[in-house]
Amino acid sequence: MAFPTTRLRRLRTSPVTRNLMRETILTRNDLIMPLFVCPGTKVENKISSMPGNSQLSVDLLVKKGKELFDKGIQSVLLFGIPEHKDEHGLVACEHNGIVQQAVRALKKEIPDLYLIADICNCEYTSHGHCGTIIDGDVHNDLTLETLAKQSVSLAQEGVDMVAPSDMMDGRVGAIRKALDANGHFNTPIMAYSAKYASAFYGPFREAAESAPQFGDRKTYQMDPANANEALREVMADIEEGADIVMVKPALSYLDIIQRIKTTVNMPICAYNVSGEYSMVKAAAEKGWIDENRIVHEILTSIKRAGSDMIITYHAQDIVEKL
Ligand code: PBG
Repeated sequence: MAFPTTRLRRLRTSPVTRNLMRETILTRNDLIMPLFVCPGTKVENKISSMPGNSQLSVDLLVKKGKELFDKGIQSVLLFGIPEHKDEHGLVACEHNGIVQQAVRALKKEIPDLYLIADICNCEYTSHGHCGTIIDGDVHNDLTLETLAKQSVSLAQEGVDMVAPSDMMDGRVGAIRKALDANGHFNTPIMAYSAKYASAFYGPFREAAESAPQFGDRKTYQMDPANANEALREVMADIEEGADIVMVKPALSYLDIIQRIKTTVNMPICAYNVSGEYSMVKAAAEKGWIDENRIVHEILTSIKRAGSDMIITYHAQDIVEKL
């Protein structure tokens, strides 16, 4: 039926019809908040490029975790800033590693807060790359060993889920095998499947002190120009046993989220990354945008595109407004 019989504005006339018609509703259950843990006690290093976020020592991290949990955030993603780094990122696999300490403390004080650990080497290697360097590039198969070791170590401490963000080929299979061999067959893997070599990670590298000391990440992270390849990455991860597939960043890649959604029957996560967050914060500070409305619109668009859950630094501000 065409106009004037059909008038699409009819259902927009009142808040009630608009509520009835709403197709996508963001809830607090959709949100995962990233947190950064560093050594020491009573340490809060504010991350200047990401207002509202800090590197926190374990004691303050627990305090923050409680605040978030009380606000209604049920899940956090943990990143570690270790005291020392080494060539292979093995400090990430130690019983007294920084994330291991954080997991023990958080699980003790807030047992119901769901803990996801980012699995990667870049925060732990002296050179800042996501794996072991051989002949000037990250060696894929050697890196799989440290990733599997890191995953098992964190699962042993009680982490609820692991999220490999390194983009090595075969990591999901290697991690699944190692977890299972150590009895952690119930620990899910959320794979950063379509992770792009993106300029949107700029502020994160200050947050996690993980900038590569030479070169870039283009030999392992994906070219932003590619979409078909993202589907191949997703398929490979599913075949290796991924429980959730992730797209990262989110906003410039909504088409990728949608393509994955229509192609595979898998839970999808999107990472609304540091640069996406910082741009909103900077514009809001200048008074150029309405932060709350913008964030709501952004997160709703990510969900509308097909994401079941969203990792976002906005979680702590938006959760009470949902
Ligand atoms: C580690 C990792 C990065 C991010 C998440 N895990 C950085 C990178 O790959 O360079 C980026 C997160 C963000 O920008 O918010 N590999």
